[in-house]
Amino acid sequence: MNSTDNSIEINEEKLLNNNLFIIGFMGVGKTTVSDYLSIILNRHKIDIDKYIEEKENMTISQMFEEYGEDYFRNCETNVLKELNEKSNKIISCGGGIVLRGENIDLMKKQGKIVLLTASAQTIYERVKSSTERPILNNNMNVEFISSLMKKREEKYLETADIIINTDNKDIKEISDEIIKKFNEKNNNGEL
Ligand code: S3P
Repeated sequence: MNSTDNSIEINEEKLLNNNLFIIGFMGVGKTTVSDYLSIILNRHKIDIDKYIEEKENMTISQMFEEYGEDYFRNCETNVLKELNEKSNKIISCGGGIVLRGENIDLMKKQGKIVLLTASAQTIYERVKSSTERPILNNNMNVEFISSLMKKREEKYLETADIIINTDNKDIKEISDEIIKKFNEKNNNGEL
């Protein structure tokens, strides 16, 4: 297979026998990329935010409001604990998953981690009309996004096996890049 037939060769053994965690700041495209990857790789997908909302029977905004952020963060950690290294899933994580060292350890133990990045301006354009992100409610501006991104940057970088910038790229370009980088790193013995 090559790029001319519109497909990309996948190192099945490695990629298909690992969970693939998709991390990154709010609005970076984790859910969309995870949906696409789960289709082209024929893998089950978990969206941690959605999973928690269904389990708790309320939105994340309601959860923050009624029980506080810590309650939500405990839910996130509990979902990671329910997985194991053989779960073999594409896992779309909430933007704050890296805030707990315990979560980082669980992800590293249970799979490979892809970090999606974008500029603060791109993020702002993607999230500005959403009211479903309690962290950004009342803080919906590029300055706040940029400063929170900087605060979290080190944690994202230390967690990631693969880093993909998503600015001005479509979903297929991003997904192909993930698979290509995964194969390259794997062939170099870096994963
Ligand atoms: C959060 C990101 C959200 C969600 C929650 C907190 C964060 O997920 O988990 O509102 O702290 O960055 P998305 O990154 O999918 O928006």
